[in-house]
Amino acid sequence: QAQGDIDAGKTKSAVCAACHGPDGNSPSDLYPKLAGQHSSYLVKQLQEFKSGERENAIMLGMVAALSEQDMEDLAAYYASQTSTPETVSEEVAKAGKNFYMGGDKERAIPGCTACHGPRGNGLALAKFPKISGQHPAYIKSQLIGFRDSVRHNSPNNMMSDISGKLTDEDIDLLSKYISAL
Ligand code: HEM
Ligand code: HEM
Repeated sequence: QAQGDIDAGKTKSAVCAACHGPDGNSPSDLYPKLAGQHSSYLVKQLQEFKSGERENAIMLGMVAALSEQDMEDLAAYYASQTSTPETVSEEVAKAGKNFYMGGDKERAIPGCTACHGPRGNGLALAKFPKISGQHPAYIKSQLIGFRDSVRHNSPNNMMSDISGKLTDEDIDLLSKYISAL
């Protein structure tokens, strides 16, 4: 298992900065923030863009030339950065928290906290991503992607099963709530 080097990753990240920002806080919500994300999850995504298991035309082009060492270095760099959370109204924060923590028993939806943690920090060992502070538009696009089987790289279909039960309103609320965590 290769070890990531933060300084080498910073140098290699120059090409990524155009979309993901120099420190992984992407200025545009078309692109996900990578700052503070677990390196284990970042490496998994880069590998899966390369293998095609996670389909995305832009990222496929970006990872083509990356070695395993490059991936580890880039992941170490972004993991060492700090993400900037978004802000939401108190109303959204309250309703969002209820759903995020408790899910919906009647519809057999587990709380997101079970895997992503009460603060949205995920769990590095399990490769459960940090989702806190992410752009709401990106969170939304991924939940819809999992629901519509456009993105199908979550192990054991964990995210497809859950997102399959979410309405557009649920997704909207959760995306906003999580972005401000
Ligand atoms: C997604 C890394 C360059 C556009 C991602 C993700 C990673 C990543 C790890 C997944 C994030 C997550 O799952 O939370 C990198 C690295 C780059 C790079 C290391 C440089 C080698 C770029 C560039 C662009 C770009 C230059 C724009 C031209 C995107 C887009 C997504 C994405 C659109 C979302 C894909 C989706 O919706 O599934 N990138 N990126 N990336 N990146 Fe990059
Ligand atoms: C990934 C949201 C519940 C396991 C993600 C992502 C989002 C998300 C937005 C993509 C992150 C990114 O691309 O950066 C949610 C929400 C949940 C929820 C809103 C509650 C409704 C869960 C639960 C589990 C779980 C309960 C575990 C059983 C995962 C895993 C991934 C993931 C393993 C990464 C998939 C991969 O490797 O590509 N989640 N999640 N999530 N989630 Fe969830």
